[in-house]
Amino acid sequence: MQRWSRRRTHFPLLALFFSVFILASILYNERNIGQIHESKDQQVPITHKNFLTSVPPKVSTNNEPKLAAASLDRFTTCASTQQYHGRRTETVYHKLEFSQRGGKQQSCDLFSGKWVFDNTSYPLYDESDCPYMSDQLACRKHGRTDLGYQNWRWQPHNCNLKRWNATEMWEKLRGKRLMFVGDSLNRGQWISMVCLLQSVIPVDKRSMSPNAPLTIFRAEEYNATVEFYWAPLLVESNSDDPVNHRLNDRIIRPDSVLKHASQWEKADILIFNTYLWWRQGPVKLLWSNEKSGICEELDGIGAVELAMEAWADWVASKVNPLKKKVFFVTMSPTHLWSREWEPNTEGNCYQEKNPIDMEGYWGSGSDLPTMRVVDKVVDRLRSKVSILNITQLSEYRKDGHPSIYRKFWESLSPQQLSNPASYSDCIHWCLPGVPDVWNELLFNSL
Ligand SMILES: *[C@@H]1O[C@H](CO)[C@@H](O)[C@H](O)[C@H]1NC(C)=O
Ligand SMILES: *[C@@H]1O[C@H](CO)[C@@H](O)[C@H](O)[C@H]1NC(C)=O
Ligand SMILES: *[C@@H]1O[C@H](CO)[C@@H](O)[C@H](O)[C@H]1NC(C)=O
Ligand SMILES: *[C@@H]1O[C@H](CO)[C@@H](O)[C@H](O)[C@H]1NC(C)=O
Repeated sequence: MQRWSRRRTHFPLLALFFSVFILASILYNERNIGQIHESKDQQVPITHKNFLTSVPPKVSTNNEPKLAAASLDRFTTCASTQQYHGRRTETVYHKLEFSQRGGKQQSCDLFSGKWVFDNTSYPLYDESDCPYMSDQLACRKHGRTDLGYQNWRWQPHNCNLKRWNATEMWEKLRGKRLMFVGDSLNRGQWISMVCLLQSVIPVDKRSMSPNAPLTIFRAEEYNATVEFYWAPLLVESNSDDPVNHRLNDRIIRPDSVLKHASQWEKADILIFNTYLWWRQGPVKLLWSNEKSGICEELDGIGAVELAMEAWADWVASKVNPLKKKVFFVTMSPTHLWSREWEPNTEGNCYQEKNPIDMEGYWGSGSDLPTMRVVDKVVDRLRSKVSILNITQLSEYRKDGHPSIYRKFWESLSPQQLSNPASYSDCIHWCLPGVPDVWNELLFNSL
């Protein structure tokens, strides 16, 4: 743990609230599906008007809680809330042994390395050549002129990554469904994957179907799909609507991934993530057999553990590793406080142009307790889940976020405009950029 040389920054309480606020406003104010647009020469326009209109929040005139037996949605409310009592569901997962960590020595740790400037091989595609680019991630289109963030190659310390080859990746995907499941960071990785792959497929042999919450990119010749399924908390929650999830309370069903699993269970290669949504304060738990709508309340770290266990139970009981590959992507770091990498500054990722070159740098955007929860859960699933441990390598990339160079869905006030750092997005990642490398690591692990 020493090598992380973690800085102890003492946040004033206000700053902490502020960071939660930034997280919340950037994560919630998404109209994700509507942002993906197709090129004009494609027959089916993907921009559905209804994805762009926001639905007003629920006016609670009706205090009748929905029956808990029904599935959760954004209108679900708690009849009352009490403290969490420590309930756990006895599951297959809980009966698994902890495996011996590091027993099987890997020849090379792909996730330990450094960034090397390489403008001959990178970027792997041009931003404007990808018809599926999101306006949230197209930084150049939205005015970014320093483009160095597109030119970094990840160099593991003890080996080389196999070069990205779209045709070879399609061969690996032939006849298969590759599905990304998670939040907007995972969606960014999915868009990156589609952009990395689409150029070798003729326009009339590919399609994109926006079938929110599941969006599917299809390549006919390979009979293969690359899909994204919105499930930011992995378990069932009141935030499962990919467009309308601006809610005051997070309510989850800590013992159920069932609704989601029915969507993802047929995929051949699954890439899961979940992280930032657990970092926004307490979470309400509504257990499946709770009939009177009484919720329990638990902090984010406790709640993510319950959710990971429910997910792990699905993996443990349903995944045959000979037939299905499952990956978990670790925390995507944020860069909200420039003082963490440059003491005595007041900013964030805005105007950062270069990666951090201090080996082992670790900022407050990557929560160690959450990492320990993930470690613990996947330790028991070792034979069934591979880890894409992108946290440390992405920690270095303070230059990789959109900051102000993206489409913002709310109009910005004059005060905000006069202080660009105040509305900068230091959470998501520009494309081409860091998520392309996550996908190269995936390519190397398949
Ligand atoms: C690559 O970067 C070097 C050094 O910054 C620069 O001299 C060169 O013109 C760049 N090449 C391309 C193709 O952008
Ligand atoms: C990419 O992979 C395909 C199929 O495996 C192969 O035929 C081709 O030569 C590769 N391209 C490069 C540049 O390595
Ligand atoms: C295409 O792939 C699906 C699985 O994703 C499979 O069920 C189907 O048989 C395949 N079709 C052909 C023509 O290979
Ligand atoms: C990911 O890497 C970090 C070090 O960067 C390590 O502490 C953590 O245990 C790893 N997580 C998993 C799930 O392997």
